[in-house]
Amino acid sequence: MTENQVGAEAKVLVLVGSLRAASINKQLAELAVESAPEGVALQVFDRLGELPHYNEDIDTEDVAEPVRALRAAAAAAGAALVVTPEYNGSIPGVLKNAIDWLSRPWGDGALKDKPVAVIGTALGGYGGVWAHDETRKSFGIAGPRVIEDLKLSIPSKTFGDNHPRENAEVAANVREVVEKLAAEVN
Ligand SMILES: Cc1cc2nc3c(=O)[nH]c(=O)nc-3n(C[C@H](O)[C@H](O)[C@H](O)COP(=O)(O)O)c2cc1C
Repeated sequence: MTENQVGAEAKVLVLVGSLRAASINKQLAELAVESAPEGVALQVFDRLGELPHYNEDIDTEDVAEPVRALRAAAAAAGAALVVTPEYNGSIPGVLKNAIDWLSRPWGDGALKDKPVAVIGTALGGYGGVWAHDETRKSFGIAGPRVIEDLKLSIPSKTFGDNHPRENAEVAANVREVVEKLAAEVN
């Protein structure tokens, strides 16, 4: 058992690429949290909006408290689940900024070698697949072990005005991603 499985509990850090109060991706993240099998705890880090823009000059021992909090949450987790929309065909800036903070110290980031899965929803007919592919590419360079075949890109029209948890197929697919990601935790 590793420190990521204290009490046999695997911890999964959840990062959401939208800061919007009524974000559908936040709701999808809520569904993921609810989907955790026994012995797995998902925790949303909801402070991405507090991170300063990445700047090597401030990435020092005195780094800003929200960065320390993010890195501590990542270090305590055995895996990470990213839930993000697509902005202008790519990764929302707030999420890319978090990836950059998590990529340092270079070669020794807090998610190094840990499994990461990327899911999300966006307005377009492909459900944000460009953002999801680029998030996998970027995290793959940043140090974690991206699980390429754990993916969901859901067009947001799928949900209508309902919470994603009310769609049985989506709920089953999210549960499968969470279970398979948790199974990858060492
Ligand atoms: C700045 C901006 C850029 C966007 N670009 C895209 C895009 O490239 N592709 C897409 O499918 N949707 C795009 N959208 C629409 C988002 O997918 C939609 O607003 C989504 O619901 C946002 O996620 P959220 O509900 O979690 O906040 C964009 C929205 C914003 C605000």
